[in-house]
Amino acid sequence: MSNVNRPIGELVLGYWRLLDWQFSAQQCIEFTEKALELGICDTDHADIYGQYECEAKFGEALKLQPSLRDQIRIVTKCGIRPALASKGLAGKANHYDSSKAHIIASAQQSLKHFATDRLDVLLIHRPDYLMDADEVAEAFITLKQQGDVLNFGVSNFTPSQVALLQSRLDFELVTNQIECSVVEMSALENGTLDQCQQMRMHPMLWSPLAGGRLFSAQSEQAIRLQTVLRQVAEEIDANSMDQVAYAWLAMLPSKPSIVLGTGNIERVARAVSALTLKLNKEQWYRIWQASKGHSVP
Ligand SMILES: NC(=O)c1ccc[n+]([C@@H]2O[C@H](COP(=O)([O-])OP(=O)(O)OC[C@H]3O[C@@H](n4cnc5c(N)ncnc54)[C@H](OP(=O)(O)O)[C@@H]3O)[C@@H](O)[C@H]2O)c1
Repeated sequence: MSNVNRPIGELVLGYWRLLDWQFSAQQCIEFTEKALELGICDTDHADIYGQYECEAKFGEALKLQPSLRDQIRIVTKCGIRPALASKGLAGKANHYDSSKAHIIASAQQSLKHFATDRLDVLLIHRPDYLMDADEVAEAFITLKQQGDVLNFGVSNFTPSQVALLQSRLDFELVTNQIECSVVEMSALENGTLDQCQQMRMHPMLWSPLAGGRLFSAQSEQAIRLQTVLRQVAEEIDANSMDQVAYAWLAMLPSKPSIVLGTGNIERVARAVSALTLKLNKEQWYRIWQASKGHSVP
């Protein structure tokens, strides 16, 4: 994999489902190390994953194996405040908070959870309708000056929200982390990926297999996609449908970082070899057609 000069590599391990995997700290180390051997050094987290438990769980692994920290990059997110009254953390409704105080407090809490002195990338998790771009910029600048966070980005932002925040910063946002897969293609149509290409910013794509629904759903769209993904897999000598779904994303000209959601190292290895697969344009559009249920005009 070519990760040279990229703030975030072509494949990223997503740890949203870490509690579901029921890994011990030792198993978490082994999973992360095996992925490193496969060339994946980026890890994706968020303060709220696992009701605030996932970051600390990953941190337990880093405490047990401190040498791991310098071999990986940590991307994490802040800005969502769920209604977790029992934990005394928030109010009665889920809400967003992109105030300077909350961004800084959340980043500092993440540093503690990961038992580290720096976060490689901090993202604002969701666009906050009450976001004051000057205030977010102030928080980012403070965290950068303190050396707490090296790079910044956003997640689920519209192009105009990215442009607004970027206009207040004299350094570049490194990513917009968005949902994109053969099932969910709106980022191709709403200007989000065009903007990434324009800014030469690599998007991070979450739920690249639609959270596994690509394989389990019985909808007409899923059935059409499964048929065509199998067909193309045979044509290009791929081992499986998931490889074709990853190869389809990797062809996007914004050169995305694909955020894997699997806790299965064999599936991670399949994703790595998927990056060597190439679809031709007809195969790429055949998958687009299967997703949409109609041909391009
Ligand atoms: N920024 C945001 O708002 C946002 C939102 C959601 C997610 N994320 C990030 O994106 C990451 C990836 O999202 P995701 O977990 O939804 O990714 P995904 O890869 O679309 O879905 C992962 C799920 O699919 C299953 N799966 C994978 N390969 C499979 C296969 N070949 N056959 C059947 N099932 C398969 C996995 O199970 P196994 O573990 O058994 O393989 C897992 O349950 C998350 O970890 C998180 O870091 C960000």
